[in-house]
Amino acid sequence: MQPDSIRQLEADLLARIAAATTTEELEAARVAAVGRKEGAFTQIAKEMGRLAPEDRRQFGMLLNAARQKVEEALEARKQAFADAVLRARLDAEWIDLTLPAPGPRRGHLHPITQIQRELEDLFISLGFAVLDGPEVETEYHNFDALNIPPDHPARDMQDTFWLEGGNLLRTHTSAVQVRGMEKLGPPLRMIAPGRAFRNESVDASHEHTFYQLEGMMVDRDVSVAHLLYFMKTLLTSIFGREATVRLRPGYFPFVEPGFELDIQCLICGGEGCPVCKQSGWVELLPCGLVNPNVLRMSGIDPEQWNGFAFGLGLTRLVMMRYGIDDIRQLQGGDLRFLEQF
Ligand code: FA5
Repeated sequence: MQPDSIRQLEADLLARIAAATTTEELEAARVAAVGRKEGAFTQIAKEMGRLAPEDRRQFGMLLNAARQKVEEALEARKQAFADAVLRARLDAEWIDLTLPAPGPRRGHLHPITQIQRELEDLFISLGFAVLDGPEVETEYHNFDALNIPPDHPARDMQDTFWLEGGNLLRTHTSAVQVRGMEKLGPPLRMIAPGRAFRNESVDASHEHTFYQLEGMMVDRDVSVAHLLYFMKTLLTSIFGREATVRLRPGYFPFVEPGFELDIQCLICGGEGCPVCKQSGWVELLPCGLVNPNVLRMSGIDPEQWNGFAFGLGLTRLVMMRYGIDDIRQLQGGDLRFLEQF
């Protein structure tokens, strides 16, 4: 055993430690150098017993110094590995604090609101006022003043959510007609967009909560021709072309004569589908000339004035315009659906 062999061992171990690139390689170098059983220093220490006592001291000092160097190199390499791991993590988590914060996500108007506003603009340009009315209505404004007294069978046409105290959730926006006549008096042109509520079963074309847009014009010598003019103007403006419509008699106690204006189903092109209940037509725009009783009850003399009224199914109009085949999607709150508009 020579001092040179200790220096050689030290150099080999230091080179192996320096070459280790993974923690496993470093651990293997540590076991080979200072491992308690197989480590090179342990082996040499065992052989020292065979040295002459005078050499043993000098040799021991050399060996301890070499071992200390190797242990320091092991520790330094271990620390370098830990530093590298930490640096990699910091690099991955680095954020530039000087960047401007992402702005709030921009939403947009619901398709029903978009079309409602289009129609409001159209009717304002035709001289109509836009009125608002309460969703919780009195029985009088929703039924009685529209020529539907309590025992009238027409009450069954609209399944009603009754509230405590005899009030109700309005079943149609026609209630706002009454408020309009009371407030403005004749002559008047008004529309009233808003929600209506019905206690009925929901399917592809029926919701319990849906939007209507009521319209009314009271003046002298108003005729069905006036009514048809406004209805056609409305539909052409929404669809950008003449939609195929049909007019058939319709019964509503507050108009006489009354009509149902149906639009050919734009979902199936009139072939028949769940939205039009396989008929090819969708009920969209009931209308008629205002019943004289209704005018009289709101303080308007039917000998002097007459008018027309209509109740557009706004939600269904939106369905037709965008080809939406299930009404429930509109109020479902699914952003993936709404972001398309
Ligand atoms: C009425 O509500 C009358 N107030 C309309 C009216 C006004 C007639 C003025 C004459 C003069 P109706 O119940 O048919 O009528 O409803 C009008 C429109 O609202 C229907 O054509 C349809 O487009 C829409 N509608 C009715 N019920 C629902 C429902 N459950 N879900 C979605 N839309 C509906």
